[in-house]
Amino acid sequence: MNDFLNALRDDHRDFDEGKLEDHHGKTPFDLFSVWYKEAFEKEIEPNAMSIATAGQNGQPSNRIVYLKECLDEQFIFYSNYLSDKGREIADNPKVNLLFFWPQLQRQLRIDGVAKKVSEVISDEYFNSRPRGSQLGAWASMQSQKLESRNMLEEKLMELDKKYPNYVPRPPHWGGYVIEPNRIEFWQGRPSRLHDRIVYEKSGLDWKIYRLNP
Ligand SMILES: Cc1cc2nc3c(=O)[nH]c(=O)nc-3n(C[C@H](O)[C@H](O)[C@H](O)COP(=O)(O)O)c2cc1C
Repeated sequence: MNDFLNALRDDHRDFDEGKLEDHHGKTPFDLFSVWYKEAFEKEIEPNAMSIATAGQNGQPSNRIVYLKECLDEQFIFYSNYLSDKGREIADNPKVNLLFFWPQLQRQLRIDGVAKKVSEVISDEYFNSRPRGSQLGAWASMQSQKLESRNMLEEKLMELDKKYPNYVPRPPHWGGYVIEPNRIEFWQGRPSRLHDRIVYEKSGLDWKIYRLNP
């Protein structure tokens, strides 16, 4: 093992960047807006979030995607509907999102239910993407085995010829919207006595409570 890995157990950094007061609005979205703005100012990839899914066999899996929109208090990202995550969401729409904002010593854990956005919203977003990404969405059978990198690049060249101008959205590519039902705001505090505030949906309202760190 190299020295960096050996040093892991001796790393006892403390958290002293902020605190989470008791009054932060009736819904989690005001606080989310404040935190997102601060993350936007301080973090390199503020909109990178992990999304955990578990399909029929119950095996959780996790990967990073980009939050592309926060609309009507819902979180939207885009992907391939036939990818592993897409198949798992089709099996079981319950997902968990995680934002980690290390400069701010914060994490945000979101439980929710995912569903596909309308075709109109997917088209609008797809049309706004750079041409390379549009062709890439056609070329990549995301999550399926690929024999060689070359095959992917050849496919991309063929697609470039097939669609010299407008690139339509592939039917298997589009957005997911996640409607949250539980959001935990975590703020690192000294001596591991972190602040954890949970908003949990209860009918039309949100119950708010604090958790032990
Ligand atoms: C910073 C970052 C952003 C990413 N954004 C997306 C995204 O918005 N949509 C997406 O499908 N994959 C995105 N990926 C790739 C995914 O992490 C993952 O490799 C891919 O979606 C396949 O996952 P799956 O096989 O579990 O379906 C991103 C990866 C990174 C590191």
